[in-house]
Amino acid sequence: MTTAWEIKQYDSIDSTSLEAKRLIGQGHGHGVVVSARTQTAGRGRLNRVWDSAADAGIWFSVILEPDVPMEQMSLYSFVAAVAVAEAVRETAGLAVQVKWPNDVLSGGRKLCGILLELVAERNQPLRIIMGIGINASQQLADFPEEVQQKATSLALETGKAIDRNLVLDAVLRWLDVYSRQLEQSGFEPVKKRWQELSCMSGKAIQIVRQGEALLYGTALGIADDGALLVQTEHGVERIIAGDVSLRAADGGYVV
Ligand code: BTN
Repeated sequence: MTTAWEIKQYDSIDSTSLEAKRLIGQGHGHGVVVSARTQTAGRGRLNRVWDSAADAGIWFSVILEPDVPMEQMSLYSFVAAVAVAEAVRETAGLAVQVKWPNDVLSGGRKLCGILLELVAERNQPLRIIMGIGINASQQLADFPEEVQQKATSLALETGKAIDRNLVLDAVLRWLDVYSRQLEQSGFEPVKKRWQELSCMSGKAIQIVRQGEALLYGTALGIADDGALLVQTEHGVERIIAGDVSLRAADGGYVV
């Protein structure tokens, strides 16, 4: 059955993911989508600030109650990435790439970030808050200086103005498609699509893991549990968390 999405639209909110969490506390559940024109405390992975200027992007969080075993919950970050990729292709005509664990890139620059959080409340089903930020109308100078070399937007990539609601609707439609695939057929179809869209396979990469030494190797693909498989000089390593950069032509590592 397709999800009857319930979109709650805000002008300004601290973070759509924080609001989704509050809504769960008030009894809201599967299918509620919190979308805001601006976030005053937008959050990224590893507690980074996520710049969310008014009307510059598509900032939203989706509450899901997935019908999959606990150990498959994290696979929804791949569901989100492929759904965004399909939606952007469909609505903006832009062929994008995905990068582990859950970025969507265009031309090697970050177009979209995804933040997945698990919410376990007593006597309640496990829920996911899937926070998605798609850069839409920014010009380069609109991004904070430290990300200007690494970020992009739909407007920069296509040279066109984008209808943000159209993109949001398309993402939700594709989320439904790929969530259902995961629930009914396991990870294989989503994994296959993710690998087709991946900008990493066979590429030299650098991995930064909290509290551990830098790791260098060649990206091989993803495992059935979503871990990144990397060929290193010591053999194949499974990476379950970290920041990945790809080696550029000048030997440095980017994005
Ligand atoms: C990343 O670091 O790449 C993830 C960024 C996720 C940003 C989105 S914007 C909507 C939702 N609300 C937040 O505070 N964060 C996510």
